[in-house]
Amino acid sequence: MSTTRKKVSVIGAGNVGATAVYYIAEKNIADIVMVDVVPGMPQGKAADFMHAAPSRNYHVTIAGSNDFEAITDSDVVVMTAGMARKPGMDRMDLLKINVNIAKQAADAIQQYAPNAVVIAVSNPLDVIAMVCLRETGFALKRVIGMAGILDSTRFQYFIAEALGVLPWDVSAMVLGGHGDSMVPLPRYTSVGGFALTELMESDRIEELVNRTRTGGAEIVGHLKTGSAYYAPAASTAKMVEAVVKDEKRLVAASAYLRGQYGHRDIFLGVPVLLGANGVERIYELDLSEEEQRALDDSAEQVRQGVVTLEEIYSPG
Ligand code: LAC
Repeated sequence: MSTTRKKVSVIGAGNVGATAVYYIAEKNIADIVMVDVVPGMPQGKAADFMHAAPSRNYHVTIAGSNDFEAITDSDVVVMTAGMARKPGMDRMDLLKINVNIAKQAADAIQQYAPNAVVIAVSNPLDVIAMVCLRETGFALKRVIGMAGILDSTRFQYFIAEALGVLPWDVSAMVLGGHGDSMVPLPRYTSVGGFALTELMESDRIEELVNRTRTGGAEIVGHLKTGSAYYAPAASTAKMVEAVVKDEKRLVAASAYLRGQYGHRDIFLGVPVLLGANGVERIYELDLSEEEQRALDDSAEQVRQGVVTLEEIYSPG
């Protein structure tokens, strides 16, 4: 059957990957291919998803494969393959394990899906995005890291819960690397058009800022055997939708910087315009000295990750 629908491939059919497929399918966003190295696993999950189509009213196709060739001509490739952290681990602890997996996936993307927009999801997110960029050799705007939306939605949710308002009436902005040094920006966060700073005491805001920073660790602490996946997958699906439908969404995402916010040659969470071409624009907010300092600290952590990356891997 020929189709004009877009094609999205999800590499890594674990919790984040499979849940992203679920959200993408439920909104009929695109035909989906799941690729994973575990024999039978992506095939089994894909078939199971298709058996749910009559009940859930999706008409996209979902296929599973152990072969990277299945991603051929994808419009978007989502990279979720890799280990998730366990209690006591930092996202950076995953680097050594996940870098080779990302390298292999990126080589395949370059070979089979040379026109795709790549959304990197595996941790440490901002460094894995760098591996994807280097290995594919794609234009800078076509490699994006998923994290800003996740961190922003956590902040949004905590604010909504505290104020007793609908979560999507909160609009929040979180910059920086996807680590505990991320930078939630209360000054650029609003509720139904009201500045957050007018609705909440600064101490309370600070508590929610800190809870946002450790939101991922909070889930790891509960689950013990892995990390969050519903919210990360939901954020991923939102990014996929923005690219597939060329929505021009203004959201936070990890983008390759060339001088913006005083940083260059690293991926860092910043406000971007997401559309069919990937990162179509990077917005520069006017930051206070304190906000800029926090962003610099966060960038430094990402830079350290890139130094570790250089030690364990050379591109090509
Ligand atoms: C989190 C992990 C997935 O923030 O990075 O939940």
